Amino acid sequence: MRSMLSKMSKISSAGEVSLSNEREKALQDAARYLESYLSLEVQSIDDAATDPQLATITLPLIERIDGEMAGNVVDIGCGQGVLLSKLSESDAFRQKDWVYIGIGDRVDLDKIADFARFKKINRKIELIELDEFYSQGCEVEGSKTAVVRNVFHELNISQTASLICMLCRSSEQFDEVIIQDLMRFPKGERSNACWDPLVLKGLLEKCGFNVIGPLVHATRSGNAFFNMIARPSTLDLETGEVEHLVALARHEQWESWVALESGEGIGHPKRGEIIEALDLDLQLAALTAFIH
Ligand SMILES: C[S@@+](CC[C@H](N)C(=O)[O-])C[C@H]1O[C@@H](n2cnc3c(N)ncnc32)[C@H](O)[C@@H]1O
Repeated sequence: MRSMLSKMSKISSAGEVSLSNEREKALQDAARYLESYLSLEVQSIDDAATDPQLATITLPLIERIDGEMAGNVVDIGCGQGVLLSKLSESDAFRQKDWVYIGIGDRVDLDKIADFARFKKINRKIELIELDEFYSQGCEVEGSKTAVVRNVFHELNISQTASLICMLCRSSEQFDEVIIQDLMRFPKGERSNACWDPLVLKGLLEKCGFNVIGPLVHATRSGNAFFNMIARPSTLDLETGEVEHLVALARHEQWESWVALESGEGIGHPKRGEIIEALDLDLQLAALTAFIH
């Protein structure tokens, strides 16, 4: 009896230890989540080497650079330049007359300029602030491939419409637009809402793009993202019309999330998984704010 009691007490104290470890871990996770939720982080340039998401668009891009003597990679919403960091490792980019054009915030652009000097590729870059891009576009000679990576989920309806208009209006200039975006947030992101890739594809098609994809990738750590390539065609829409289409698309997505959350989706076999994956409460709040 005594040995049984001692065995039980060992089990219970081991249980308590593991419970308090779990609680500790949960608290740390929550603190990390909240920290990233409250401050919108931009990916550091040092992450480029190990980012599997980035790797899925780099090879097709380098293949394209390799196939043409000259051209421009226009990185719209470039952050701190993780894409440039990846390109700087490629012989094709270094040897051919390709230019990287980073469009972003001044603070980020300054970091990219420092990086380019350090890597001795400063003659191969041009940097444009977001305001200038939206007022004057991106007038450069030669072929242009745009990359819009992890940007759409941060934009509200009118910002999304402005971006699509810039891509449409430049239809004679942009050969293709490589879009990569998140389907689940690896960390909390306040006021942001992921796009359902099929809804985004439908929107872009209505705005006159030919779209290849989306190709959805899920990672072992539970993240998910999609890639698509959009080729602008000749359809020219007014900003107001594009804004209306964006609002409709976001509304469509909002309705499906509300249905999922409110119980209409109870029969959906993966309802719980989807809600958790989308982090639905927070993203629904962000999307509700976008559409109202
Ligand atoms: C999550 S970061 C992604 C940065 C970078 N593309 C990357 O892959 O690391 C989102 C970026 O969108 C940019 N951004 C914010 N508003 C924008 C807008 N209206 N149009 C284009 N980019 C925008 C921000 O400056 C920021 O760099």
